[in-house]
Amino acid sequence: MPIPRSEYLSSVWKDGIFDGRVVFVTGGAGTICSAQTRALVALGANACIVGRNQQKTEAAAIDIATAREGAKVIGIGGCDVRNPGNLESAAERCVKELGAIDFVIAGAAGNFVAPISGLSTNAFKSVIDIDVLGTYNTVKTTMPYLVKSAARNPNPSQNGLTGGRILYVSATFHYTGMPLQAHVSAAKASVDSIMASVALEYGPLGVTSNVISPGGIAGTEGMERLSSSAVDEKTSGKIVPLGRWGTIRDIADATVYVFSDAGNYVNGEILVVDGGTWRTGGPV
Ligand code: HXC
Repeated sequence: MPIPRSEYLSSVWKDGIFDGRVVFVTGGAGTICSAQTRALVALGANACIVGRNQQKTEAAAIDIATAREGAKVIGIGGCDVRNPGNLESAAERCVKELGAIDFVIAGAAGNFVAPISGLSTNAFKSVIDIDVLGTYNTVKTTMPYLVKSAARNPNPSQNGLTGGRILYVSATFHYTGMPLQAHVSAAKASVDSIMASVALEYGPLGVTSNVISPGGIAGTEGMERLSSSAVDEKTSGKIVPLGRWGTIRDIADATVYVFSDAGNYVNGEILVVDGGTWRTGGPV
């Protein structure tokens, strides 16, 4: 049963704005990345989502494809972003089956809630490897395709066809520091930094590079883990200036903006979608 569109996309967007575009998504079976992908697919894109878990990734692809009749969504399991070879074969398959990579969402992340005293060197390194090295591997693997896409669509403000865009899913923990998240904070600060370097290095070739930083988003894996330790869903009104936790639609709408013709001149930016929470020093 397809999810009603109003649950993951606001009504301001026009159908078909991503017709003919292909998005490659790491960690695409997770709650946030699958919502982002579903929104792009609903508006015309085809997608290739990759992840470590084969069954979960393939099932998510089938589910996302219900967003639009005729949508093509490939799910590639067994793809660990720490392994450049895995990413290269996935990207090649994406281009072979879907024709291009116009957009990338670098969303694969590792996380668990743990005090510094409870982190082994390997635990810290695992998160750094997935988030930082994995992001670098994703950029390196997909950039040749993004550069080609940007060259095919050099004047989006004239024809509305955008291409050559990468969006990283980060967090806000590192703006203030976050107990039990030292490993993740360090990793996400690096993701933001990679984003900025890519923006300057590949902007001249027409590729834009931006970060989206979700706050506490209801119903996500991250929120469930934090809820049991640092926050409670019911306390949102006290923590979030806007008085509610975020929804996957909030993240999907911001994602559509960045990839759309409306986001043409946005490069090297961090788009925080957290209802204003990080400014309060709140826990997410
Ligand atoms: C302390 C832990 C731990 C925990 C794992 N480790 N969980 N240490 N507390 N809760 C340690 C292990 O003991 C091991 O160290 C090391 O981490 C690596 O664990 P493995 O299971 O061998 O690694 P791997 O299979 O590569 O798994 C990576 C992972 C795992 C990060 C540990 O959680 C994972 O695969 N996560 C991917 C999915 C995910 O987390 N998504 C959430 C994204 S949500 P030793 O020393 O024993 O070898 C998000 C938004 C924010 O990012 C969420 C806020 C909470």
